[in-house]
Amino acid sequence: MISKQHIVKGLKTSVIGRKLFVFESIDSTNACAKTLAETGTSEGTVVVADHQTAGRGRLGRTWVSEKGCNLLFSIVLRPSLPKDASGLLTFFSAVFIARALEKMTGHPVECKWPNDILINGKKCCGILLENSFSQEKLDFSVVGIGINVNQSTFEGDLETRATSLFREYKKEFDRTQLLQHLLLEADTLFSSLKKGKTETIMTEWNNRCSMFGKPVTVSHGKEVISGTAVALSAEGGLIVKTPTGQSTFYAGDVTIVQQE
Ligand code: BTN
Repeated sequence: MISKQHIVKGLKTSVIGRKLFVFESIDSTNACAKTLAETGTSEGTVVVADHQTAGRGRLGRTWVSEKGCNLLFSIVLRPSLPKDASGLLTFFSAVFIARALEKMTGHPVECKWPNDILINGKKCCGILLENSFSQEKLDFSVVGIGINVNQSTFEGDLETRATSLFREYKKEFDRTQLLQHLLLEADTLFSSLKKGKTETIMTEWNNRCSMFGKPVTVSHGKEVISGTAVALSAEGGLIVKTPTGQSTFYAGDVTIVQQE
């Protein structure tokens, strides 16, 4: 079981995780963090759980994670950002996670639009941002992160699409140490984001993304479009060039079409 005492002991952050809640089991760390944010909790508040009974995924999906094996946590952020710039937090989250995972494992990871982290082409981490706005400005954002750390098997089709650090590197990782690294990377990058240094975030994200220039299929609800992934729009949408023009997606699932 992950413990608050152990996390706090080696935590070197100045903002992220200074207020910390750790649960053995909870419905969803995002739901909890959102309630805390709505009642005024300070920026950097972190909620961690060993198990979720109603873990939330993107697009209304559920996030299932084996008890006691992985990292499930949410961070409350309150940067001063206009509504249309809040998408930046997606890329911020992916980059600090990528930095921490690369330092802990010594191996590169891949960023996949909109907010997944892949290792050797398989998903090992999902990110769910839940934002609240007031008067066209971001009031708070809850960044929910699920990382498959020591889980060795996955249910159904996840067996081929998902992975964990354990599966890729054939060893168990210390979840407390990994969480401390993640919170430290979040702290460092958040401090530069607040100073307006957003270029490094986008450059690092783009450098870890292999999709541009490749044929892709993007689906969102009933809409499915095939084309070439061109670039990110200013708001973080995915621009896809099709035979009839160009479409920009702000949510959805993207698959790179493997060429023979
Ligand atoms: C995705 O669909 O890829 C995003 C998954 C995000 C899951 C994490 S686990 C911790 C946090 N609490 C939740 O309920 N969801 C996020």
